[in-house]
Amino acid sequence: MSAEIIDGKKVSADIRAEVAQAVKELQAKHGLTPGLAVVLVGEDPGSQIYVNNKERACAEVGFNSFKYVLPTETAQEELMKLVDELNARKDVHGILVQMPLPKHLDPTPVLLAIDPNKDVDGFHPMNLGRVVVGNALLPSCTPAGCIELIKRSAARMEGAHAVVIGRSNTVGKPVALLLLSENCTVTIAHSKTRDLPAICRQADILVAAVGRDRMVKGDWVKEGVTVIDVGMNRTDEGLFGDVDFDEVKEKARAITPVPGGVGPMTIAMLMRNTLKAAEMTL
Ligand code: GUN
Repeated sequence: MSAEIIDGKKVSADIRAEVAQAVKELQAKHGLTPGLAVVLVGEDPGSQIYVNNKERACAEVGFNSFKYVLPTETAQEELMKLVDELNARKDVHGILVQMPLPKHLDPTPVLLAIDPNKDVDGFHPMNLGRVVVGNALLPSCTPAGCIELIKRSAARMEGAHAVVIGRSNTVGKPVALLLLSENCTVTIAHSKTRDLPAICRQADILVAAVGRDRMVKGDWVKEGVTVIDVGMNRTDEGLFGDVDFDEVKEKARAITPVPGGVGPMTIAMLMRNTLKAAEMTL
């Protein structure tokens, strides 16, 4: 079997077009334009690119965006004060503080300070808790993007055995809980799991989020599996996922490439969460 290559760029563009349409309706019916505030502390070049991409995506879907670039030496209290101000603003529906923060700043109190109903990153424990109880109002963006790719690849989730490799708070745990909400039977595998290849071979849906270059080999999967690769491993040979794409695509029903799979979805889900956060204020 040769797999369907799941086109994350196309799905991301489709979702952003859906959001843009919903924004027009929100403006016509309620006179409301969603607004996203993005806070960047310091001058990390990677973060600058991410923040600029988010700003451009906002413009494309018709959101207002408010960018705050603070100097590296910003004090914790100053950053907390800005979050409080953004929490109080009526025209700001989503708040995102770009991570990582400079070393002298503690991210935990910052994330806790963001109003959970404006936490469009879905990093606040309240939003993780909502995912736990099956009411994912603002799920974190990369996990939600994985689910969307699975849905749009027409994989059957109900009753499927989903294996998630990785147990991070940002991807592994939330994606496992979202799969459970879709009625998958879920196994979470991690660095201490015994005989990982044997566990992976049971998967109808395999989500790899470990950060190890091309770890999942062709003989780790069964015929017909749906594979979502969250890995982004930069090597001398180029950018690779956690899945050995060339081997696994020969057995998979559908598989995401790296790049062009999960990566483009994060920003689409951020746009969707910001739209939802704005609609929640009506
Ligand atoms: N840094 C890298 N990815 C992300 C993200 O999705 N959100 C935030 N806030 N920071 C990041």
